[in-house]
Amino acid sequence: WAMHAPYVAAINRLKAERGAVILAHNYMTPQIYHGIADVVGDSLQLAVEAARTEASVIVQCGVHFMAETSKILSPDKTVLIPDPEAGCSLAESITPEGIAEMRRLYPGAPVVTYVNTSAAVKAASDICCTSSNAAQIVAGLDSDTVIMTPDKYLAQNVARQVPRKRVVWWDGSCMVHEQYTAQDLRAFRDWNPGTRIIAHPECPPDVVAEADFSGSTAGIIDYVARETPQKAMLVTECSMASNISDAHPGVEFVGPCNMCPHMKKITLEKVLWSLHAMQGVVEVDPGIAAGARVAVQRMIDLGR
Ligand code: 13P
Ligand code: SF4
Repeated sequence: WAMHAPYVAAINRLKAERGAVILAHNYMTPQIYHGIADVVGDSLQLAVEAARTEASVIVQCGVHFMAETSKILSPDKTVLIPDPEAGCSLAESITPEGIAEMRRLYPGAPVVTYVNTSAAVKAASDICCTSSNAAQIVAGLDSDTVIMTPDKYLAQNVARQVPRKRVVWWDGSCMVHEQYTAQDLRAFRDWNPGTRIIAHPECPPDVVAEADFSGSTAGIIDYVARETPQKAMLVTECSMASNISDAHPGVEFVGPCNMCPHMKKITLEKVLWSLHAMQGVVEVDPGIAAGARVAVQRMIDLGR
């Protein structure tokens, strides 16, 4: 912490001067999560906060689609992303043409698009979802067939939760969660009996089936707080366990984890520079933003 302290102090000073709020995803490093964030959360919680914040500047400590979502919901605010190159394998897997292709294949079926996408893809969709509300949104749609894009694993996991719907999907995946295998989890459980396995729904369905619980990053945090297992393996990004371990000294976090190279592009140094120089301003074409806002707002309204 000693080496981070000057950055943390400088960022917190500058944040107050600029009237900025820092929204940080649960996958940020502990120094961002605990040192400078005003709000931490999963994708849905950050979107809700972006829509209601009164700060004039939003610094998005997360990946590019999250900053775009904040700009879509708060078009009059300045949204900064400390590294505009912080992408996402899911967001990169689909374009608006992909949405059009799915509509041609399944005429009349509504398109539910994960927030991990560009603004243009959201604008081409009917409604957005996050991992914390995907099943609820699919279940509530007035159609037997539902198109889910771009995460095939989230779609397959939702299809199991909502068996009365025919869910069809795009062939995208998260480079962090697709690496886990059910076989590895079984082997890990054999070596470490009593470990509670908690998986993100971007993992393949056989991995989720092997887990004791599956949920969004906020759902995972709530589960650990509620259950306080003796040993927990978080089948998700590495920072999750680091960020919550202090709050749960009785829980031993065990097992391997995978790092998201995009999330890890956001560092204290880049946050400081971005706030100092007001660099990394996120702009979304107003026409595209208007279309995307409809899809994102529908999702937020459905969760109310
Ligand atoms: P949630 O925080 O919404 O669960 O999303 C996880 C993720 O991978 C975001 O990129
Ligand atoms: Fe994208 Fe996966 Fe990284 Fe989240 S963890 S930003 S879904 S690549």
